[in-house]
Amino acid sequence: MKKIVATVISVLVAELILMVLFVNSGLYNVSTLSPDPGFLHWIFSRTSDNSARVHSKNISIPPLNDSSMVAVGFVEYNETCVGCHGAPGVNRSDVGAGLYPHPPNLVNSAKQLPASRLFWVAKNGIKSTGMPGFAGTHNDKSIWSIVAFLEKMKNMTPQEYAAMVNAQSSKKNGATKEMKAARPFIHR
Ligand code: HEC
Repeated sequence: MKKIVATVISVLVAELILMVLFVNSGLYNVSTLSPDPGFLHWIFSRTSDNSARVHSKNISIPPLNDSSMVAVGFVEYNETCVGCHGAPGVNRSDVGAGLYPHPPNLVNSAKQLPASRLFWVAKNGIKSTGMPGFAGTHNDKSIWSIVAFLEKMKNMTPQEYAAMVNAQSSKKNGATKEMKAARPFIHR
């Protein structure tokens, strides 16, 4: 029995030494051009998916069908999120395209995930991925308005998205009516 314990301990110590040597060696390539090996990718993405699923499970979803809420959410999405995530007919910016892990297309995310999870991720962000947490700059009402827009965007055509962008820029002289109305509660 003693022998087994001694063997297990020496294997663990050897592994720890190897890990410290590897971490200090600089051999692992952190370049975004060098994708993580499959098993590491699996560990990171499963950890992140399960964390978001578990932490968002008790969030109750408010009514998201209000059209002024959707309009406010669009303005915010088109200013804050589109660069990384793109939109129907809109590619990611150079910043979004250069990130690893790649920011997902939120049309698919909104089709697959409950609104409570979209809300949790937008509010909290995801460590070490480039996905910012917006809790420090946006209150809950503002984040729910973005989620309300995502629920509409998931069924939008590129033409419909472009029409919203055009309507906003033609109205825009500094800020749209919706934005002016929304600003008091959008930012903390
Ligand atoms: C600087 C780039 C960047 C910006 C800006 C950004 N995101 Fe993200 N987002 C990411 C990345 C990268 C991921 C993927 C993280 C991962 O793989 O775990 C992500 C993931 C997500 C997810 C999870 C999707 C899924 O399928 O699991 C949601 C929801 C999300 N972002 C919403 C938003 C919203 C809403 C905004 C704007 C308020 C926003 N993001 C702005 C980079 C960004």
